[in-house]
Amino acid sequence: MSDLVNHEFLQLRINQYLEQQLNKLTVNDDRLHQAMAYGLLIGGKRIRPYLVYITGETLGVSLADLDGIAGALECIHAYSLLHDDLPAMDDDDLRRGKPTCHKAFDEATAILAGDSLQTLAFDILANHSFSAATQPKQLALIKQLVTAAGYQGMCGGQALDLAATDKSINLTQLEQLHSLKTGALLEASVLMAAECAPAITEQDKQALKEYAQLIGLAYQVQDDIIDITSTQEQLGKPCGSDLAANKSTYPALLGLQGAQQKAENLFQQALQALARLPYNTQSLADFATFIIKRSH
Ligand code: IPE
Ligand code: IPE
Ligand code: MG
Ligand code: MG
Ligand code: MG
Repeated sequence: MSDLVNHEFLQLRINQYLEQQLNKLTVNDDRLHQAMAYGLLIGGKRIRPYLVYITGETLGVSLADLDGIAGALECIHAYSLLHDDLPAMDDDDLRRGKPTCHKAFDEATAILAGDSLQTLAFDILANHSFSAATQPKQLALIKQLVTAAGYQGMCGGQALDLAATDKSINLTQLEQLHSLKTGALLEASVLMAAECAPAITEQDKQALKEYAQLIGLAYQVQDDIIDITSTQEQLGKPCGSDLAANKSTYPALLGLQGAQQKAENLFQQALQALARLPYNTQSLADFATFIIKRSH
């Protein structure tokens, strides 16, 4: 299958899976249910699910097992965005070309919808019909998502991001912040898929981990770059908002060219990590290219 066809196929697959997960819930408050659907189903590039699927495909894991992992990660991601856009955090009005959840509904509903999507992620992982081969890994998968999403991962990174606003921090601090707030979930996308591969060696897991960390960091570097170079129409979210909020970003520290060079270096290192793997890693390499070339 060509990469493009496979990408569209997987996009459709995750969208249908997420829709099914939401439709089958009985939520007492209809408005809460609608806000969850608004945050989860409308738009989004679905890069974490895509990364789960292509890593799993590379390693011979079944798509049916990967659905649960991809779905859980996207729920965590969607919740993180609902909360990231709130007035208490980035205070943004536009997301995926539409009013942010707290604008379309209200702040309390956006907070609760985020909370509910977070627990839905663990509901999915705990209740997904995994194959007999993957079932013994279920608890390990849940633990991986806990670490990636919580204080040791995404939430920890968001806290560092807020603490660094209006302050100057050094490159090492910025790298740690980026690696946690964005890198942790991308790393989990790769490593949770790898967890389900029966024959994988520790050495191969290490190479995948390095690949994931490098592209995770590159993803946020590029996010900071396009916050400056892109347009609101292209992004579907406000641009220039990092600058306006005096956020610590790579372009702020290294300048635009320095940040672009940084993304390119991370990309090259990611390819080197992939070269150590005894698998056909073309789709993972293509994904790394997409990350540093994306304009939205
Ligand atoms: C946006 O994530 C926030 C970052 C971590 C940079 P995405 O760029 O994956 O956003 P969607 O899901 O496609 O809207
Ligand atoms: C958000 O980073 C990362 C998470 C939500 C964990 P940003 O604040 O840079 O994301 P955007 O630019 O609003 O999408
Ligand atoms: Mg933010
Ligand atoms: Mg934001
Ligand atoms: Mg951003």
